[in-house]
Amino acid sequence: MIKHKMRILNKEWLSPNIFALKCSCMGINPAVGQFFQIQVDEGFEHLLNRPISIADYRKNELLLIIKIVGKGTEILSKKNIGDELTGFGPFGKKINVVKKKSLVVAGGIGVAPLFFLGKKLREKNIDFAFVFGAKNPEELILKKEIAKLTDRAIFITESGARKKGTALSVLKEIDVSEFEICYACGPKAMLKELQSMKLTIPVYVFCEDFLGCGCGLCLGCAIKYYGEYRRICEDGPVFELMGIEFN
Ligand SMILES: Cc1cc2nc3c(=O)[nH]c(=O)nc-3n(C[C@H](O)[C@H](O)[C@H](O)COP(=O)(O)OP(=O)(O)OC[C@H]3O[C@@H](n4cnc5c(N)ncnc54)[C@H](O)[C@@H]3O)c2cc1C
Ligand code: FES
Repeated sequence: MIKHKMRILNKEWLSPNIFALKCSCMGINPAVGQFFQIQVDEGFEHLLNRPISIADYRKNELLLIIKIVGKGTEILSKKNIGDELTGFGPFGKKINVVKKKSLVVAGGIGVAPLFFLGKKLREKNIDFAFVFGAKNPEELILKKEIAKLTDRAIFITESGARKKGTALSVLKEIDVSEFEICYACGPKAMLKELQSMKLTIPVYVFCEDFLGCGCGLCLGCAIKYYGEYRRICEDGPVFELMGIEFN
């Protein structure tokens, strides 16, 4: 496990409860799906580090996109430009971005690791569509940046003025069979529904469930995968959706 002392180079609020931190982070070669365990503070009150996906990495600069959901992420939101951030990682298995026509499906803050994926797909000239659904227009972050990556970016919100829906309702309206592979990240309920849709192409999901130690020791993140227990932090967080036994 490598400890990184990162300096916050830039901070931007993307919505009232989602912020982006650009941090200096030297000498890593992260892959899509990997994440950092970010230390909340130095005290004993918040001992567990919080897992945050790599949303981008270039020229020794790491992008983290964080949604405030509780105490830990709220404390992190108070960090400012110039502050130091301690992170451990990168964790998680490296996945290969294969040369296949791809369908990327993001729900809510699940967009963070998929933004990094979108950048890699673009770099490798792989044709892809990016479907992003959020609760409301404010949480539809990175719209311009995603639209620059692909001319097939589709955005939808549950409270939209013109058209209401979720990322999965978009999938019901497009011809999924034109794609060869699908990647998805979002709330567990979304992943469960996606599994029940039984798409005819392989679907890989980025699991963002609770983690304990984050480094393979506590087994607190175990999920049943093709009948055997697997750790999200060490064996994932990306898994083939059909193999996951929810509950
Ligand atoms: C591999 C991985 C990558 C992640 N990447 C990101 C990311 O890029 N950006 C981001 O904003 N978040 C990401 N998360 C989720 C993030 O780690 C949690 O939101 C965070 O740890 C919550 O900490 P907290 O102290 O603010 O909330 P807590 O006080 O621990 O919890 C507050 C509330 O949020 C719920 N909650 C906490 N953690 C989760 C979770 N993992 N999934 C669903 N509900 C949860 C709790 O039930 C509770 O209601 C990722 C999680 C994993 C496992
Ligand atoms: S969080 Fe401890 S083993 Fe995965």
